[in-house]
Amino acid sequence: QATSIADDRVPDMAKRETLNLLLLGALSLPTAGMLIPYATFFAPPGSGGAGGGTIAKDAIGNDIIAAEWVKTHGPGDRTLSQGLKGDPTYLVVEKDRTLATYGINAVCTHLGCVVPWNTAEKKFICPCHGSQYNDQGRVVRGPAPLSLALAHADVDPDNGKVVFVPWVETDFRTGENPWWA
Ligand code: FES
Repeated sequence: QATSIADDRVPDMAKRETLNLLLLGALSLPTAGMLIPYATFFAPPGSGGAGGGTIAKDAIGNDIIAAEWVKTHGPGDRTLSQGLKGDPTYLVVEKDRTLATYGINAVCTHLGCVVPWNTAEKKFICPCHGSQYNDQGRVVRGPAPLSLALAHADVDPDNGKVVFVPWVETDFRTGENPWWA
């Protein structure tokens, strides 16, 4: 009799352990799932050698190599690339054919239209409500209330790729704190 009681308990224990395992699994699976985006948030896939940032991409999604970019984009050129958080961001080629150390976020500070560069006027002119920005993205005509946001355009010394890094310092165009940081 005594052994049959023990025998009876075996399947019971096994069942309980299985339930415990299921419960653990149910608890730990979502936890693991939440850890993945958490981890990638702190180590973005595009992080480069410049203390973390986003590799600039051209219109078809290729990484931009600074030396090649300035071969195909002349002095004064402003061409859109994919910047931080996917924002359209102008790469600027200076008059001496070097790449500027800043990129200009193309999202209009009025209502968010993407602002095209007007080569003839040497200004960014918003097609939506006519706001204008100078060649560095400083607002010169409303209704836009603020200048276009900046990002650092660094060059990774290892592979020559352009890396955008958030601009948190003073806005060199206005001498003010960056409104976007
Ligand atoms: Fe650019 Fe209104 S969205 S002027």
